[in-house]
Amino acid sequence: MLDGRTKSQSTKTSYNLALGADHAGYDLKEKIKDFLLEQGHKVEDIGVHNVTPVDYPDIAEKAALLVVKKKVDRGILFCGTGIGMAMAANKIAGIRACACNDLYSARFSRAHNNANILAIGARIVSLQLAKEIVDIWLKVDFEGNRHQRRLDKVAKLEKTYHCETL
Ligand code: RB5
Repeated sequence: MLDGRTKSQSTKTSYNLALGADHAGYDLKEKIKDFLLEQGHKVEDIGVHNVTPVDYPDIAEKAALLVVKKKVDRGILFCGTGIGMAMAANKIAGIRACACNDLYSARFSRAHNNANILAIGARIVSLQLAKEIVDIWLKVDFEGNRHQRRLDKVAKLEKTYHCETL
């Protein structure tokens, strides 16, 4: 399996996680919730709780606010592709959300990008792959150094460009 191993393995074994999904991600969220609870993590399930269609930005917003307000350590979101959830969550200052549907992206979204929200495409990955993605994402630490300098530049972009400045 191509997971691009790095030197950065976390010693932290239990996280407080916000979990959210739209209708496309509901089923996978439920299964990953069980998986995370079995692994000893705490889960704040922000919905949805059934497959009635909803709009993913509403769920992404809830999870992102829990993360930036430090009510949880990190968030994991599920939609059809992971893309909409990540796009929406990234509109909130301080969020670094990544859509990861493979192990390499999951690993480096932590090691190099210090992602604080993982978005998974429930219509793309199998349950087994989703478990492996989540597992790696929780175990890999941010490497800092030159990657922190780059993230500082990302944060500067967030502060500099908003509708009032354009
Ligand atoms: C819902 O059909 C789908 O568009 C949504 O789950 C997600 O994939 C959007 O990015």
